Amino acid sequence: MWSDLPLFPEKASSVAGHVDELYLFLVAVAGFFSVLIFTLVTIFAIRYRRRSAGERPKAILGSLGLELLWTIVPLGITMVMFGWGTWLYFKNMRVPAGTMEVYVVGKQWMWKLQHPEGRSEINELHVPVNVPVRLVMTSEDVIHSFYVPAFRIKQDVLPGRYTTIWFHATRPGKYHLFCAEYCGTQHSGMGGWIHVVSAAEYQQWLTGGGSAESMASKGRTVYERLGCNGCHLPEGGGRGPSLAGLLGRKVAMGSGETVLADEGYFRESVLNPRARLVAGYEAIMPTFQGQVSEEQLLQLLAYVKTQKSAERTATE
Ligand code: CUA
Repeated sequence: MWSDLPLFPEKASSVAGHVDELYLFLVAVAGFFSVLIFTLVTIFAIRYRRRSAGERPKAILGSLGLELLWTIVPLGITMVMFGWGTWLYFKNMRVPAGTMEVYVVGKQWMWKLQHPEGRSEINELHVPVNVPVRLVMTSEDVIHSFYVPAFRIKQDVLPGRYTTIWFHATRPGKYHLFCAEYCGTQHSGMGGWIHVVSAAEYQQWLTGGGSAESMASKGRTVYERLGCNGCHLPEGGGRGPSLAGLLGRKVAMGSGETVLADEGYFRESVLNPRARLVAGYEAIMPTFQGQVSEEQLLQLLAYVKTQKSAERTATE
């Protein structure tokens, strides 16, 4: 019933409806109690007004019933908010299976987006409808924030690390993208459009930009230029561990701890290899800080994601 209200941005993602319902519930609770309190203040002010100069009210010695009422009722209401908010938070944070990935680099003052298949865009993002899309994002300079009101998603984009967010667009169309973190003079102009198109149109668009080299293929070039292949042999046995099937796996560290080899760990291992060293390997890898751009680092990541090896998974 509220969907046509012009105050609301249109709803174009799988979570948009849930976000609005929670939002309206919070507004309704706040509105109900605001009206109740203002009404009571007015009524009591009139009803219990001082009628003569000598009037003294009776002393009140407390009421257990009232104390319980105004403790338990707000507790119940806030627990509903907490439970509902948590449910939605997890729904928003858990990435479903079968997502497609897009890599995002923010900089003053533009959004650079790369598709694994090779096409890159600036301030525009083409995605197919009804396919969950996961964004792996970082910044070249300051903090930005990726905000798409129609999808009800917003995620800060930070220099020096990866943040991720996902969405599932449910309606074809063109939706506003904003930067929602003040990032300098042109912050207000750091926006763009998300184009949600049909699967067929998306395929056509992907191949429409000529024969773009895939991210993994560009990543392979970087991999070889930096000499990663000299130590990280795919079948293992090199001076560094094999990177085949690395992403998403639990890896034992020399320190005894076990870490999930996620995108953040990959990034750290390239830029600061000694921070968390895989068990059984020496700290001989140099840092590649300053030798790879954020885009190249993402291309390396895309390349390493494609390195899968059967024997590696078999020995686990
Ligand atoms: Cu980027 Cu504000």
